[in-house]
Amino acid sequence: MTTNRFFTLESRPDGELADSDLRRHEQPIAAPAEGQIQVRTTCLSIDPTVRIWMSDIPQYMPPIELGAVVRSLGVGVVEQSANPGFAVGDRVIGMLGWATHPTFDPAVAMVQPLPAGLPLSDAKVLSLLGLTAGPTAYFGLLDVAQPREGETLVVDAAAGSVGGLVGQIGKIKGCRVVGIAGGPDKCAYVTETLGFDACIDYKNADVGKGLDEHCPNGIDVCFENVGGPIFDEILLRMNLNGRVSLCGLIADYNEAGRPVPGPYNFGMILMRRLRVQGFIVIDFLDRYDQATADLLTWARQGRLMTTEDVRKGFDALPQTLRELLRGEKSHGKLVLEP
Ligand SMILES: NC(=O)c1ccc[n+]([C@@H]2O[C@H](COP(=O)([O-])OP(=O)(O)OC[C@H]3O[C@@H](n4cnc5c(N)ncnc54)[C@H](OP(=O)(O)O)[C@@H]3O)[C@@H](O)[C@H]2O)c1
Repeated sequence: MTTNRFFTLESRPDGELADSDLRRHEQPIAAPAEGQIQVRTTCLSIDPTVRIWMSDIPQYMPPIELGAVVRSLGVGVVEQSANPGFAVGDRVIGMLGWATHPTFDPAVAMVQPLPAGLPLSDAKVLSLLGLTAGPTAYFGLLDVAQPREGETLVVDAAAGSVGGLVGQIGKIKGCRVVGIAGGPDKCAYVTETLGFDACIDYKNADVGKGLDEHCPNGIDVCFENVGGPIFDEILLRMNLNGRVSLCGLIADYNEAGRPVPGPYNFGMILMRRLRVQGFIVIDFLDRYDQATADLLTWARQGRLMTTEDVRKGFDALPQTLRELLRGEKSHGKLVLEP
């Protein structure tokens, strides 16, 4: 008999997520009550924000409650439905959680049907259209940073899911795009496959010198995914009236709750009259359709490409999240097929 396997959060991680912070369950699949659906999870998005949700620092959504299933974006197929909006066989996307066969209220889990006939694998759906991927890059760059043709855009975690899309959209909008990524292979992917103008290998080169070399006219737009010393080097080189779209600070997520140093060059916000704006993609939920239409069009035209690092096996979830936060993943979007 197929069962529902799921992980609950039992304690808040101190530093890196430990296996002892989680509990693995295996139970009979629950039949849906009125209004609910039951889904078979086919692919889970492995997102840095899950580590934020596991903490109880002030954040943009309620933290995952202790004892609750770990919250996670995923794609699945409806197996049982007691909700008139969903039919058996529908392909859906939303907060399925770290569970193989969850049963839930689709409104609470922000679950929506995917358009029928969408010619994308589950992993590609998550890497292009998943809220934490394409729409994050789209709104964070175009709405928050508002890049103009001819401007210089710098994006870190450039070989990653969000960063790779940001740079490609920047190129579509006519920017000079410089990425920052860890290691020669990832930098080669960023320039040769994604078409960035340059990429600085922060693990093997001096980021400040690299920015001086590849941004001879300074930086107009920074799309910030990392924080820490990399962000400090970018701040030092921002142009007058530059814009910083603050998308993430992944370098600090395992420090949740502890004081972290920097940015030391905070004064540059004053000196260069920068606009620094944080955003969370859910702020733009009402325009999700606009983002998906543009993303799909650009992908069809061959101007936007995504790569997926696909892991397998439900029990690998905790280790896969740890590897994401350590930067021990390949390029592209990290997903797991349970
Ligand atoms: N604001 C929002 O609504 C929103 C939504 C989605 C994501 N985000 C944020 O976007 C950022 C990227 O997320 P993603 O899902 O696309 O992940 P990702 O870029 O695919 O993977 C994370 C990458 O972060 C880099 N990294 C981790 N620790 C680092 C460190 N100490 N120094 C430099 N680089 C480090 C690594 O890059 P290398 O492999 O090059 O070393 C790693 O591969 C995260 O900060 C995430 O929280 C924000």
